[in-house]
Amino acid sequence: MNEDIKRVIFNEKDIEKIIDKLAKEINNDYKGQSPVAIGLLKGCLPFMSDLVKKFDFDVKIEYMRTSSYVGTESRDVKIIGHVPDVKDMDVLLIDDIIDSGKTLKEIQKLLLNMGAKSVRTCVLLDKILPRKIELNVDYVGSRVENEFVVGYGFDYNESYRNLPFIGVLREEVYKK
Ligand code: IMP
Ligand code: MG
Repeated sequence: MNEDIKRVIFNEKDIEKIIDKLAKEINNDYKGQSPVAIGLLKGCLPFMSDLVKKFDFDVKIEYMRTSSYVGTESRDVKIIGHVPDVKDMDVLLIDDIIDSGKTLKEIQKLLLNMGAKSVRTCVLLDKILPRKIELNVDYVGSRVENEFVVGYGFDYNESYRNLPFIGVLREEVYKK
């Protein structure tokens, strides 16, 4: 497994530092509030689990599952199953990474339509790339080059999510 990794971008210590920084910002903004943190499965799992432990305000934990597929014209974001009740709630939407931005944009819109009082967004990584979708993400852990990353929740064909670090996959793995 580790032999499939070309380069480690963030080791465990780096990730811890990023999460500490994010938690500080979030604790500051949600002081005295009781928001619901909604994680987008499954990529958010290690990240969200480490992040919420650092929150010092009252927070509820929820999740949603989304999937995106390539259609003939554009990629659609689909929600699979459970949708939490967010009416009149402050929502902190947590995802692993923004790529095109479509997932976060669509889910944010949906939650606001469902009556959420506010929806802020938080991602561990933000890919540096020209983005067609305009999206303001409130909390960004770190920006990364436009490379395919795995580990710490990030998968390739559902594998590598359990690696404790974030790295770039070797090209040979894609070509297999
Ligand atoms: P988008 O912002 O709607 O394009 O999609 C973001 C989703 O694509 C993320 O939640 C990830 O599941 C997936 N994704 C994007 N880039 C990567 C990557 O480098 N590694 C693993 N998953 C990725
Ligand atoms: Mg995802």
